[in-house]
Amino acid sequence: MPTSLKIAVLPGDGIGPEGMEAAMQVLQAALASDGYELEAEQALVGGAAIDECGEALPPATLTTCENASAILFGSVGGPKWETLPPARQPERAALLPLRRHFRLFANLRPGLLYPELVPASPLRPELIPDGIDLVCVRELTGGIYFGEPKARHSLPDGDEEALDTMIYKRSEIERIAEVAARAALERQGRVCSVDKANVLTTSVLWRETVSAFFDRYYPQIELSHLYVDNAAMQMARNPNQFDVVLTENMFGDILSDEMGIVCGSLGMLCSASLGLGRNAEGQPFGLYEPAGGSAPDIAGQGIGNPCAQILSGAMMLRFSFGLGNIADRIEKAVREAVREGYRTADIAFGKEPVNTAAMAEAVLERIPRV
Ligand code: IPM
Ligand code: MG
Repeated sequence: MPTSLKIAVLPGDGIGPEGMEAAMQVLQAALASDGYELEAEQALVGGAAIDECGEALPPATLTTCENASAILFGSVGGPKWETLPPARQPERAALLPLRRHFRLFANLRPGLLYPELVPASPLRPELIPDGIDLVCVRELTGGIYFGEPKARHSLPDGDEEALDTMIYKRSEIERIAEVAARAALERQGRVCSVDKANVLTTSVLWRETVSAFFDRYYPQIELSHLYVDNAAMQMARNPNQFDVVLTENMFGDILSDEMGIVCGSLGMLCSASLGLGRNAEGQPFGLYEPAGGSAPDIAGQGIGNPCAQILSGAMMLRFSFGLGNIADRIEKAVREAVREGYRTADIAFGKEPVNTAAMAEAVLERIPRV
């Protein structure tokens, strides 16, 4: 009897379902050769859920997620739902409640550009001859995204005001610092913490806490600090000066998009959002999703890049199931397929592009056997 891994599969909208189908085939094949199988329960999310049930994150979907050890997420959103009020739109009404509900406080976004794909980056090739390799660790359940009060009111003079609250506790900063430290220990051992401590009080606490935390628990890690404006500039100038970037919620949102474009196609970038909770395997419960969006312009044509979804699945195996060895094999296979010239349109650059299914097939065939 194979050991089954219970996951919730939320394909969502646009190219989400196509990428998910391809990724599931690859994951299943990689797992099967090691005696594991996926027990995947599919659920509606995003615009697909709005159309079907009137809300982006129906209670039944939440239940499916609660009963699983991890969530494999596709992508949500599209022009059809853009006229809804912002709080009901697929992106916000699905992702933010999921993050809050499962206390997914740690968002890991690897910025990896293979040397073969250097032309996909807008940076001059001589700046990144060997590609790019860094990771952004973003705090995901605090700061201005979730801080209270949030309000909007009319003023007696007829004017109007709105406010959000940026707020952090020392304990929230320490737990995300711990995630960054662990990531750095597996890499080059360098963390750059990004804040705006020359202006914001939350950032002053952030910088003090991060410094004290690394001094005390991780003195072997090389810690540096940058203000966020400078960090944004450095990311565009020389991304490889970074190993692990550690930052708060909103700065991480912005910097990780910048990192995404610097690393070429969003179609290659995966992410993990890890929670405080433990799953049935005793590992962190997490949500795993491609960095790119639902790409409505190419949806339904079967030409989207499935690699980000496949690589998100690999991260899921590593973090939520402790199957780093299988994750490694999948990552190697993706790399190998790209190196041998299999490219979807977003990364083709003169090569004859293959479609979603062929790309997934090329990866699948290259998974090293045990
Ligand atoms: C992201 C997205 C989300 C965020 C949106 C869709 C709410 O931009 O995951 O980076 O701002 O966190
Ligand atoms: Mg974003």
